[in-house]
Amino acid sequence: MVNTVLVTGGAGYIGSHACVELLQSGYQVVVVDNLANSNCESLKRVQDITGKPLAFYQVDIRDRNALAEVFAKEPITSVIHFAGLKAVGESCEQPLMYYHNNVYGTLVLIQVMADADVKQLVFSSSATVYGASEHVQYTEDLPIGAINPYGRTKAMIEDILRDLSATDGLKPTESPWKIALLRYFNPIGAHESGKIGEDPNGIPNNLMPYVAQVAIGKLAQLSVFGNDYPTPDGTGIRDYIHVVDLVKGHIKAIQALQGEKFAAGGCKAYNLGTGRGCSVLEIIETFERATGRKVNYKFAPRRTGDLAECFANPELALKELNWKAEKSLDDMIADTWLWQVKNPQGYN
Ligand code: NAD
Ligand code: UD1
Repeated sequence: MVNTVLVTGGAGYIGSHACVELLQSGYQVVVVDNLANSNCESLKRVQDITGKPLAFYQVDIRDRNALAEVFAKEPITSVIHFAGLKAVGESCEQPLMYYHNNVYGTLVLIQVMADADVKQLVFSSSATVYGASEHVQYTEDLPIGAINPYGRTKAMIEDILRDLSATDGLKPTESPWKIALLRYFNPIGAHESGKIGEDPNGIPNNLMPYVAQVAIGKLAQLSVFGNDYPTPDGTGIRDYIHVVDLVKGHIKAIQALQGEKFAAGGCKAYNLGTGRGCSVLEIIETFERATGRKVNYKFAPRRTGDLAECFANPELALKELNWKAEKSLDDMIADTWLWQVKNPQGYN
């Protein structure tokens, strides 16, 4: 049987890379996206890279009838759920918009999935669900407790999905839910073709697109948020992961959901990170070395809500999904730069 995967948010940064990987691995792909933070040009390029078609529906996941129609038309076997809003600052200003889009949107999606008896789901969670943990290396068994509305939408959705999976024991006659919660660390980079990549609206919030836009001259100067953290060079440490490695983890997760481990159903969280921490100054130095461009920066006060250091323990994903990140920081930066140089205005 051909596997048909519904990719919600498939026109976005991570979703478009997932579509490439799915098509190249022999899956049929159906994308649902309302284009709130993306451009369907990304999907044209996905088809261009792979030489394979995909089905696209411009639908908001909160529109239950429209979503149900997609399930009625397409032979969907599993869902990768990327659709969501993701800007931490905006979520503090407009929390209801975030709860409505991310939490309510997911409720509608899983209701429609249940109606269609499609019960394999891979969910885009985030390392942000670990909140202000005193640990620097996160394992999946740490308590979750996000510290901003965006993070709380992810933590709430995780709870909802765990509760949903727990109902299986009450309904042994129905097919069980099989759910993987993938907690991403810091995805960066782009497809090696330079045809798809991250295309943030306005001034980027995240480090890597900001650095790339400074290097190409679109922005004047990077502010390094804090040089007085208790880290070797005083700047914040994160676990940066190549977006192509990250999306490969989703294919491994689908395979696991369809395998022995999830035969009786279940809902399980996996960290997707490299397990290596890297400071802001290391990113700048590597960027300058890899691209030959200067990154103009200054030190600025710490950003509210930032942690000094966090990185993944990725052992569970290796053990149970047979996945590990392969690409180096140099690969991440070279691919970011190729995308930036080939598409200085993003998809526009
Ligand atoms: P993105 O904004 O590029 O992609 C999200 C896509 O979802 C966009 O194309 C947007 O138009 C679509 N979308 C949003 N709300 C929708 C709705 N109601 N109905 C239909 N489509 C909708 O973001 P991304 O970086 O690709 O992130 C994908 C997912 O991964 C998100 O859920 C995000 O929270 C999560 N995540 C991202 C990161 C990161 O650093 N990029 C880290 C951790 C988790
Ligand atoms: C941020 C979000 C997190 C989200 C993730 C991916 C916050 C507090 N956290 O994580 O919830 O899941 O993005 O979307 O917003 N930095 C600078 N200058 C900049 C930008 C960043 O010095 O202009 C530093 C930060 O202080 C941090 C590192 O670079 O040390 C990485 O920052 P960023 O890319 O924004 O990711 P996170 O803060 O880890």
